[in-house]
Amino acid sequence: MWQRHPDAAACLIVSPTPYGTCADIQAIAEICHRRGKPLIVDEAWGAHLPFHDSLPTWAMDAGADICVVSVHKMGLGFEQGSVYHLQGQLVDPIRLKQCADLLATTSTNVLIYAGMDGWRRQMVRHGEKQLDAALQLVETTRGRINGLPGLHVLHDELIREEASHDFDPLHVLIDVQQLGVSGYQAADWLRENARIDVGLNDHRRIEATFSQADNRQSADRLLEALGSLVEAAPGLPVPAPVELPDSADLEMETVQLPRDAFFGPVEVVPASEAAGRIAAEQITPYPPGVPAILPGERINARVIDYLVSGAKAGMVLPDPADPSMETVRVVQE
Ligand SMILES: Cc1ncc(COP(=O)(O)O)c(C=O)c1O
Repeated sequence: MWQRHPDAAACLIVSPTPYGTCADIQAIAEICHRRGKPLIVDEAWGAHLPFHDSLPTWAMDAGADICVVSVHKMGLGFEQGSVYHLQGQLVDPIRLKQCADLLATTSTNVLIYAGMDGWRRQMVRHGEKQLDAALQLVETTRGRINGLPGLHVLHDELIREEASHDFDPLHVLIDVQQLGVSGYQAADWLRENARIDVGLNDHRRIEATFSQADNRQSADRLLEALGSLVEAAPGLPVPAPVELPDSADLEMETVQLPRDAFFGPVEVVPASEAAGRIAAEQITPYPPGVPAILPGERINARVIDYLVSGAKAGMVLPDPADPSMETVRVVQE
């Protein structure tokens, strides 16, 4: 990417992903530093990483310059409790603080700060022991879920070559395809019938996210609910197909500055006419929370087919003006 974009100011990566897969941060940091450029890691899913040696390496330990962490995700803070860490000489701390101030509220909720500090204290004092127990619990639970017919807990396929460098086992990613249902349907069924909200769901997977707050009781509840899902699955409708693009299809060309595309004159067109046009909005399937379309990109048909079929099948699209994907905002040409 540096060869393709030598003038870029920095490298920004997401690791871990919401699926728990992790990049080789150390290798990426070395490549960036050889060019004198900072590596910024979106480590939203990594709040617990510094506190146990068996977990993937924390971005700061792997040599990143900045990492941004949601304490409220894998840590136990209140929602909105996010922090950033900074090290090294490549980023000016004053400039970083001033940039953060542009976006932050002047009325921070003291409960959020207190929650983060309480969690930090707890982790420093007891984190290793508590995470040890969580890791043991999750190991047994993975085996028990794999024992249910039609369910497969992903692990080896996530850390092979061409997959990810490391993996956080607290993300229990369950492939439900053999049940003949989609992840969207499985998640809806669990919420409706077992009052369990899974961490994420996509066209073929659901994820149960574990933390040190879990115990045998919560794991048993999950197991019982998954057992009932297995029994109920044959009665659920055949899932709508999602037309997945190749990864190359997702790398669309940026033909206009994102700010020009976003702030300039905009037109709303039917999704069937969006291919070939320049996007004026961001469209992000969540998960994985990585935009499939960004303002300024020339839209291709494969990505539109993916998003339109995904929206019909139950994909969550939090950011487009029309989350049903019947229409798309494009640049007026
Ligand atoms: C990869 C990733 N980055 C960033 C965020 C946003 O973090 P926060 O909710 O702390 O603003 C999320 C949350 O959903 C995420 O999954």
